[in-house]
Amino acid sequence: MKNSWIHVHRGTVAKQARVGVADLNEEHYSRGGFFGPVSMLYHGRKAADPIRVEGPISVAVALLGAMTFNDEGNPSGLPTELLANDELSISLSRRAEAMPHLLRNVDADTLYFIHEGDGVFATEFGSVEYEPEDLILIPKGTTYRHMPSTSTTAKVIESIAPIEFTEHRQIGRHSPIDFGVLGIPELTEYDWPEQEEWEVKLKHGTEITSAFYADLPFDLTGWKGDLFPFKLNLRDIRPLNSERIHLAPSSWSILESVSFMCVPFLPMSGVSDPEAEELPTRHRNVDADEVILIRRVNGSPVNALGHFPQGMTHGPAGRERDAYHAIYEPGMQRMLEGLSIDSYRRLHRTPAFLAALPPKGGQK
Ligand SMILES: [Fe+2]
Repeated sequence: MKNSWIHVHRGTVAKQARVGVADLNEEHYSRGGFFGPVSMLYHGRKAADPIRVEGPISVAVALLGAMTFNDEGNPSGLPTELLANDELSISLSRRAEAMPHLLRNVDADTLYFIHEGDGVFATEFGSVEYEPEDLILIPKGTTYRHMPSTSTTAKVIESIAPIEFTEHRQIGRHSPIDFGVLGIPELTEYDWPEQEEWEVKLKHGTEITSAFYADLPFDLTGWKGDLFPFKLNLRDIRPLNSERIHLAPSSWSILESVSFMCVPFLPMSGVSDPEAEELPTRHRNVDADEVILIRRVNGSPVNALGHFPQGMTHGPAGRERDAYHAIYEPGMQRMLEGLSIDSYRRLHRTPAFLAALPPKGGQK
C-alpha cells in the first residue's frame, strides 16, 4: 500500500480530519508513523482503555524514582538498558562521578539526552559541556569520557544505523533549527592527573573489550571533516506548529535513523481555531514503538518513561477528552514536555524496565 490522494469513505466521517470531530470519536490508524497510508476511523462509542491486558505489549509507564541505575554509585558501570531490539537500544544513566575509563562504542552511534545535571563529555575532538535538555550525539567509534559536575540523569539511545538530522524539505534550512546553534567541540588539552595506564572500553553490544594505553589517547593537535560529536539544546529548536490543525508529533522529529525518529515535545501553544481538535487523536501507531521520557506535564515534573508499543491503541480516552474540553481555551499551552524515541521495529522490555513498573505493570 502507498499514499494516495484518493481517499475512500464509508458512513459518517469528517470532511477534514482533526477538525469539528468532537462527537465523532475519531481514531488515527496509519502506517509509517503518522505519514503513511491512513484511515481515520469514527467510532460509535467514546474511546476507552482496556480493562485488562494479558501479554507483553501493554502501554506501560515506569517512574524514574523506581529504577536501578547501573552507573549510579559505580563509576565503572554502564547505563541500564530498558528497551531494545537488534538495531536500537534505549537506556537510562544516572552518574555522579566521572568514568574512570574512556569509552568507545564500536557498534552504534550514541545519543545522550540530558534529563537532569550538568558536566562535560570529554572527547578526543575536545570538550562538550552539557546542561539539562541537551542532546549530545557521539558518533560510532568516537572515544569519550563522561564527567558530570552534578549528578546527571540521561536517556541514552544507541543506534546501529547512523543518526542524521531529519530533513524537513520545503521549509528552508533555518528551521526547525539553524545549524549555527550546534555546540561543536574545540580542541582541549586535558590536564588530568597522570595514570600508569589508560583504559579504553570498546563497547560492542553488551560485551566490553578493554584496551590499555601507557599515555592518554586524547592527544589530537587538529581535526577536520564532517564526522565529530556535537550538542543541541531543546530550547534552540523552533518546532513546526499550526494554529488551525494539530500536527502529528512526527512533524517535530529532529534526528533519525532508518530505525527510529527522535521527537521532542516542546513548550508551544495549541491550536487556536475553535473547530480544530487540540488533543492528540487516539492512535495505534502500527509502525512505531513510542518510548517517551516525560519531563513535565502542565509545567510540573513527572520523571517517567512511557512505552507505547506499536498496535496498542492509546491517547486521551473519552473521559479524559471530556475533562480537557471542560477547561480548554483555544491557543492554550500544550501540556506535555519530553523526548520520544519512535522505533520502527518492536522493542523488547528488559528485566530492569519490568522491575521499575508500578503494580499492574504501569498500564493505563
Ligand atoms: Fe502515541
